[in-house]
Amino acid sequence: MPADPPRVLVTGVGGPSGISILRALEDAPLTLLGGDIDPYAAGLYLLDATRRSILPRGDDPRFTDDVLARCEREAIDVLVPTVDSELLPLARRRDEFAAAGVTLVLASEATLEVCLDKWALAERCHGRVRGPATVVVDAAFDPRAIPLPAIVKPRSGSGSRGIRLLEKRAELEVLERDGTLLVQEHLPGPEYSLDVLARADGHVAAVVPRERLKVDSGIAVTGRTLKDDALDAFARAVARAIELTTVANVQVKIDAAGEPALLEVNARFPGTMPLTVAAGVDMPRLAVMEALGEPIPDGPLPFAEIAMVRYFQERFFAFDDITDLQRHAAEIAS
Ligand SMILES: Nc1ncnc2c1ncn2[C@@H]1O[C@H](COP(=O)(O)OP(=O)(O)O)[C@@H](O)[C@H]1O
Ligand SMILES: [Mg+2]
Repeated sequence: MPADPPRVLVTGVGGPSGISILRALEDAPLTLLGGDIDPYAAGLYLLDATRRSILPRGDDPRFTDDVLARCEREAIDVLVPTVDSELLPLARRRDEFAAAGVTLVLASEATLEVCLDKWALAERCHGRVRGPATVVVDAAFDPRAIPLPAIVKPRSGSGSRGIRLLEKRAELEVLERDGTLLVQEHLPGPEYSLDVLARADGHVAAVVPRERLKVDSGIAVTGRTLKDDALDAFARAVARAIELTTVANVQVKIDAAGEPALLEVNARFPGTMPLTVAAGVDMPRLAVMEALGEPIPDGPLPFAEIAMVRYFQERFFAFDDITDLQRHAAEIAS
């Protein structure tokens, strides 16, 4: 009798990242399951009704226990988390998942700690790649020393929340000096997202640079891939600096002199992964198959220069499917 296909659970399937992973894996010899906190998460309805689950929020103290129990019950082989708040709690308990036979497709705890704090990341990459001049807004902060305009952003944050362009010194003077904000040189040029596939041994097998041509609510809706040696070398240097062992998304913006400078690293699958997959590097599949024991080639893996636009797509089903998941969500909330 043939063995049952390996079972892969993807979290955050209401978001573009989770959905892009489900879609990249749909033709693979795998059984796909999906989880989300929201019973309306679209990706849940791309799956068979028996393969959907409602999860606690990543910052809920019950999150990791709940996911581990679910993985055991569902005989999960590979878990792919896609939500920022889930990453560190899961990475901290990787051994318990391994003991239950579950491999996490997830950066190491040390890599995540650096990437979730933009100041720690700037310090780590200092002297290795160009970074915008950055200071912490703490007791030592001197507003007079900052060239304008400048960007202010939270040390830890995502989705552009709390990011502003400051053009007046008075705006710098009133910033709370509690150490949670950064003030950064404004980078005026175009913005690139560099999708990086590193193997478990740290070797970088692929870098696919994407230009973000139009962004709506933090998501690239128009983009293109491009071959660029400088961006390739930049992404590889960042991957080495953070000791990357899986997929990450390195974000850069071009400075006044035309050079790329580091904005941040999302040490997880990005929402615009479909463009990278379509260009020829199926990072979700390669990473999941590596977790199942199939080595990733040395590369560099080739890709094509292509462009992308995005649109909504509908899915129709019985309303009962939704009420089932609403009931599960209510149980978790109680
Ligand atoms: N130093 C900067 N200069 C110009 N624009 C910036 C700068 N930092 C951030 N931005 C803009 O804000 C967006 C979000 O910033 P980012 O550092 O990626 O934080 P987040 O974690 O919120 O995505 C960027 O995609 C870019 O458009
Ligand atoms: Mg960003």
